[in-house]
Amino acid sequence: MASYSFIIIGSGIAGLYTALLACEHGNVLIITKGTIDDCNTKYAQGGIAASIGSNDSADLHYKDTVKAGDGLVDTEAAHILSSEAPDRISDLVNFGVPFDTTNGAIALTMEAAHSVPRILHAGGDATGAYIEATLSSRVRERKHDIKVLEYCLVTDILVKNGNVTGVRALDLRMGSVLEFEGRFLVLATGGAGNLFKYTTNPDVATGDGVLLAYKAGAELTDMEFYQFHPTGLRIPGVAPFLISEAVRGEGGILRNVEGYAFMKDYTPDAELASRDVVARSILFEMRKTGADRVFLDVRHLSPNVVTTRFPNIYKYCYDRGLDITRGLIPVAPAAHYMIGGVKTNNWGETNIAGLFATGEVACTGVHGANRLASNSMLEVLIFSKRIIEKIFQSGPKTGSVNSPSVNTSLPDRKTAVAKLPVSLRALQDIMWNKVGIIRDREGLILATDTLSSWQACLPETTDRPTYELNNLVLTGRLVAEAALIREESRGAHFRSDFPDHSKDWEKHIIFIRR
Ligand code: SIN
Repeated sequence: MASYSFIIIGSGIAGLYTALLACEHGNVLIITKGTIDDCNTKYAQGGIAASIGSNDSADLHYKDTVKAGDGLVDTEAAHILSSEAPDRISDLVNFGVPFDTTNGAIALTMEAAHSVPRILHAGGDATGAYIEATLSSRVRERKHDIKVLEYCLVTDILVKNGNVTGVRALDLRMGSVLEFEGRFLVLATGGAGNLFKYTTNPDVATGDGVLLAYKAGAELTDMEFYQFHPTGLRIPGVAPFLISEAVRGEGGILRNVEGYAFMKDYTPDAELASRDVVARSILFEMRKTGADRVFLDVRHLSPNVVTTRFPNIYKYCYDRGLDITRGLIPVAPAAHYMIGGVKTNNWGETNIAGLFATGEVACTGVHGANRLASNSMLEVLIFSKRIIEKIFQSGPKTGSVNSPSVNTSLPDRKTAVAKLPVSLRALQDIMWNKVGIIRDREGLILATDTLSSWQACLPETTDRPTYELNNLVLTGRLVAEAALIREESRGAHFRSDFPDHSKDWEKHIIFIRR
């Protein structure tokens, strides 16, 4: 059996960046179910937050992060994130990421819920694509230290006496089962946007790491907090392509179908309120006007600013018959980011020795109940670096303090819900309609009962689609069960039957397999 110091599952920014740090210490295997470039990172537009501007500070970044997280941020993690950010940006620059500049200095833009412009970007609105291309070319240069296994789906984490020993995987082209031995295993599998009918994520985001970790006995937390981006493009027959938060940061205005700029009616921060508030306001406005969309208006901005700051968005819309310098952009919220995930401490460690998680699959607690825009790729850089430091440096290390929590496992639901054929489409519909932006007990009970009965009749896992469906059904069930348990509204989790915060819920929900 081939043996590696590190096995990393996933090839987005989290997998590649961790591999580049790890390969200085031992041989690395990256396993990815598609090609190295099939990942969510390359669709990230807005950028990376870091307090490198002259009017900014780590303290201000910390405060914005904690405020957006609505009472559930792990404050130690947020301190680490905001104070280590400038150094991690230097690391990316050293790897060759070409951030956009103005007069020789890195250009910074504004995004919602940030007090000052602090978002670095590359290629205008192609930040993720530039990072992915840079890091994957660095990884290819290290081919003697980093082996990349493409079209290979990890199906099991191997654990012996409480320690990770390796993984089992399915070679998707040959159909053969492979096993690899590894001392340290890093989950970098991303999120699960395909749970929902409308998502900004590509089709690789299917909750793979959540299921792997759960089966292995890892703790999962904050699953009820799924972030919906306020502005996915809403054109019939077109996937909800992301219209970056930075478009509002640069002055874009939201209008309802009657042309009215409605955001001030909902919050004094208007278009720059935090993402959960803007997404809900849009939904309420859509319901009020009976429309399935609102519009984002950038016609008042100089066409030159629009086409140079947002060349991809401009081209994507132009190719579909819409010149956004002259016409309104139809938008509606879409699932964007899994805030919860595999519980880690501030060194990326899970509760299983040798198992680490980083990026969207991990829950470091830094986002609390609602992620501040452009903190996600930063979180990867910070905590991936700390995983490698934790493994290879001596000295006193502490994890995060234990926050108050409800520890539970998935309940048995012996219900008589009709065993509908389980399909991705049916799952996405129920998740969107009952576990989406606005939730209530009745809808969540229907969703949890249905998902639980589906779990009992899932197709046998033989190939990528059947594994992905299994992964999504379990992940959806965890989101729905957590949303049912949390009887309050906080951050990205909104219950119409419990519309306020509750002091009793200043705590996390942790699932562990029985
Ligand atoms: C965006 O460009 O709006 C996405 C940024 C993010 O999700 O942090």
